[in-house]
Amino acid sequence: MTKVKKAVIPAAGLGTRFLPATKAMAKEMLPIVDKPTIQFIVEEALNSGIEDILIVTGKAKRPIEDHFDANLELETNLIAKGKNELLKVVEETTDVNLHFIRQSHPKGLGHAVLQAKAFVGDEPFIVMLGDDLMKDTIPLSKQLIQDYEKTHASTIAVMEVPHEETSKYGIIHPEGQVEEGLYNVKNFVEKPSPDQAPSDLAIIGRYLLTPEIFELLENQAPGAGDEIQLTDAIDALNRTQRVFAREFKGKRYDVGDKFGFLKTSIEYGLEHREVKEALEDYLIELGQELLDKKTVDEVPETKEEQ
Ligand code: UTP
Repeated sequence: MTKVKKAVIPAAGLGTRFLPATKAMAKEMLPIVDKPTIQFIVEEALNSGIEDILIVTGKAKRPIEDHFDANLELETNLIAKGKNELLKVVEETTDVNLHFIRQSHPKGLGHAVLQAKAFVGDEPFIVMLGDDLMKDTIPLSKQLIQDYEKTHASTIAVMEVPHEETSKYGIIHPEGQVEEGLYNVKNFVEKPSPDQAPSDLAIIGRYLLTPEIFELLENQAPGAGDEIQLTDAIDALNRTQRVFAREFKGKRYDVGDKFGFLKTSIEYGLEHREVKEALEDYLIELGQELLDKKTVDEVPETKEEQ
């Protein structure tokens, strides 16, 4: 059996939900406290045993590439000032086998993944969306690899979402579980309205795919939003070979959404060595202020004012 060694991180979307911040900067570079989102994704890949990573970039390619490259001027400066801790933090980002390719037009996630065809070759691989952070005791990519080691089949990560939100996601039509949390799938539907959705199990940003997906992507007509949809190609793949869905039970953070980004920053801040205590005190104080304000706003008006 071929080992899963390669990951593809599509990071070429327009990030319209986060404008104007994403006008000149990829949303994958937005920092969570002090680390760009994409660095968390790269770390998840490495912690899952991935050896080679391809990042699909768009116009804002340079900052991503520079972030994972050595910065000699900065390193020399940190050495001269004896800032060894910071030096270690900076150097950690360069110790990865990274490759880059450009998606010249953002024609959709499926089209972004297709750019990885030559890099992937004839091997199974992982797709990790650059704006989705996943937290669990076993990294989600590793869970998918463990499934692959048993099934030798493509496996897509899914998670239960509120029924009224199905139109934001690819949704699966499950057909029974082969083991706890691992579903057979009848079909995959991109962004169905709640009344059309076959379940509330939504595709989230991790996919383990067999290389046969590329031929399907090459022939995939544009779907929802006039984009080449990865979900549509996965649905086609499921008609010729088995594709499973693994239900993720950990926590997912959608960093490409404004509110999602704020929640992620707060929750990661509450675990960050340097700021956690100050942030906790601040949140308690702020929470109390908000509660007091709410109580005052809710107190009935005085008799004279009535
Ligand atoms: P999103 O659905 O979040 O799309 O893409 P988007 O265009 O980046 O963001 P919004 O909705 O306009 O705010 C999911 C992932 O797929 C990548 C994105 O970078 C993101 O990581 N993507 C999407 C591409 O690489 N290329 C594309 O053409 C579309």
